[in-house]
Amino acid sequence: MKIIQASNYTDLSHKAANIISAQVILNERSVLGLATGSTPIGTYQQLVDWYKKGDIDFSKITTFNLDEYVGLGKEDVQSYRHFMDDHFFSYINAAPTSLHIPNGKAADMEAECTRYETLISDAGGIDLQLLGIGHNGHIGFNEPGDAFEKCTHLVALNNSTIQANARFFHSIDDVPTHAITMGIKTIMQAKKILLIANGSDKQNILEKALYGPVTPFVPASILQLHPDLTVIYCYEANASSSKNKESSC
Ligand code: F6R
Repeated sequence: MKIIQASNYTDLSHKAANIISAQVILNERSVLGLATGSTPIGTYQQLVDWYKKGDIDFSKITTFNLDEYVGLGKEDVQSYRHFMDDHFFSYINAAPTSLHIPNGKAADMEAECTRYETLISDAGGIDLQLLGIGHNGHIGFNEPGDAFEKCTHLVALNNSTIQANARFFHSIDDVPTHAITMGIKTIMQAKKILLIANGSDKQNILEKALYGPVTPFVPASILQLHPDLTVIYCYEANASSSKNKESSC
């Protein structure tokens, strides 16, 4: 496990973008696992900047996002598909057919989970998986529970996640109650994992995840067992409004 302390949110974003960029430069056909949320926004902005400068070519990558809300599609501004288009996909030269996100509007959720898992294995698995961490230790939408869920599956979001994500919706009642998420096995099969955490509010859970017991009650704790995990963190004052922050840790 490599643990890197960033000096501020911009530094965290540059470091994370550097690792993703190196991955794509070393293997232009990289399969990237991607995350949404506040934390990776600066990372995507940095990658877009380097793309615009001609420093990086995304034309041959394939991507798989971790998760999507059930009931939301591309046209819904709160969908993760919309988020990815807005922050990353619309600005780079990746082939649209190579950019995968679970279909939150699929008629048959079980079939959609199987389809997604098969797509990932048909692509040869994920080379580099980007992760954020929830306040309850979730990764993707793998919520704390009695067991580590294995593959892509349908999940009921717990209250703390619904409350944390309410900031992106008009009201808490609009936050979907279910999502499709890659499972822990899917995530752990990635060849490399890059976990980013920003904000003093993430310090407690990140320390539990990295140094506490490996338990499904802290889903991110399983990452301790991954052979190639890099963690970049910055305990800035407030992670929830981390867009473009310059302040020091
Ligand atoms: C998003 C995702 C979530 C977030 C986590 C942290 O695709 O999988 O696990 O990474 O909720 O979110 P932020 O970055 O908003 O604190």
